[in-house]
Amino acid sequence: MSELKTDAFWMPFTPNRSFKSAPRIVERAEGIYLTEKGGRQIIDATAGLWCSNAGHGRTEIAEAIYQQAKKLDYSSIFNFGHELSFEYSERLVKHTPDGLNHVFFGNSGSEAVESALKIALQYQRARGKGTRTMFIGREKGYHGVNFGGISVGGIAPNYQTFGQPVKANHMRHTLDIERNAFSRGLPEQGVELAEDLERLVAFHGADQIAAVIVEPFSGAGGVILPPKGYLQRLREICDKHDLLLIFDEVISGWGRTGSAFAAIEWGVTPDMITSAKGITNATVPLSAVFVKDEIYQTVMDAAPEGAVEFFHGYTYSAHPVACAAGMATLDIYEREGLLTRASGDIGKHWEAALHSLAELDNVIDVRNYGLVGAVELRAPENLKGKFGGKVSGMAWDAGVMARGIGDALCMSPPLIIETHEIDAIVDKLRGVITSLA
Ligand SMILES: Cc1ncc(COP(=O)(O)O)c(C=O)c1O
Repeated sequence: MSELKTDAFWMPFTPNRSFKSAPRIVERAEGIYLTEKGGRQIIDATAGLWCSNAGHGRTEIAEAIYQQAKKLDYSSIFNFGHELSFEYSERLVKHTPDGLNHVFFGNSGSEAVESALKIALQYQRARGKGTRTMFIGREKGYHGVNFGGISVGGIAPNYQTFGQPVKANHMRHTLDIERNAFSRGLPEQGVELAEDLERLVAFHGADQIAAVIVEPFSGAGGVILPPKGYLQRLREICDKHDLLLIFDEVISGWGRTGSAFAAIEWGVTPDMITSAKGITNATVPLSAVFVKDEIYQTVMDAAPEGAVEFFHGYTYSAHPVACAAGMATLDIYEREGLLTRASGDIGKHWEAALHSLAELDNVIDVRNYGLVGAVELRAPENLKGKFGGKVSGMAWDAGVMARGIGDALCMSPPLIIETHEIDAIVDKLRGVITSLA
């Protein structure tokens, strides 16, 4: 077999030169396992990039994709429709919180975020509040890589490289290891951090702000869970000042917390939810914004009869093959009870197993909820802020894919995971972390 040439592909979010000097090539995936070139098996403790929620290699999704591509591979979604997009939308909104009954489709989480921000602007104009053009996000928030998303996101390298193309300001993040270390589930301390929104409203003026956007829990920021009562308080402050609240549930959606959406799990209903990743079990790119009825209706009513109400969309919005993949994914989620599985015994086992690592000297925090978690490590001085990346490389060599973020190892295993597989992950990580000392 000829040697793999790695030069042409400019890899995303990857140190290209070091990767290409020692490539890690994944060849196959099934269930919760990846198979590396050469045949070695690795447990995918991250469900890819927080997305293969029903596990890998689900043949009924592959079959649905194949059948749809043969029947209708593509047709324009501007001014024409295909039935599956309508059927799929009706089915999707059966899983969303009450009142979020409209769907706008894109292809990626980043596009869902851009679409939600634009819907917010369109809505504010439609109801005569066109001065409301800025957004409030949160430090450490990740909302994808497009210009709106990096502006509302709170990931420093984005600012340092690309600036802030869309006007935004940021609330403080809620990571507080000093007060909340080793919390099981939602941390007790920090509800008062929601008051930071009041500070920003007082600074900018409510009449400048279109929407507040947060992940219910920060994923790419390092699995940062909301303190008890925090999201409820954000909702109250948004209501008080008439601000839209957007939950970016690109990671937290589709069963990760033990409910279809974190909004349902934690009993706080936003005005919009962005979704992607697990929506098709990551088989075909697809994303969605779920929108409150009142927003949809206001935008419809404001436009003259016959006019395009919302001047936005993608060639591949509601792509037939993606809709077919999404339908087959919902079949699996519903049939196998995956959207609530994390709230049962498997979630409890995950919590107990992850927290068993707390006894190790160089573990300074363990965070968990549903089937997501992080193990925060004490980093040596010279590797502070990037220790997770180094240790995740060691975990890979030991047979576990875990994501290094800052000094933490972050995990979100496929929701089909079994207890013995959780134990295998934790055993392997224990070996790796012990070897650091
Ligand atoms: C909360 C959140 N929003 C948006 C995105 C961007 O999604 P994508 O990479 O599909 O554009 C991500 C990706 O991890 C995410 O975690």
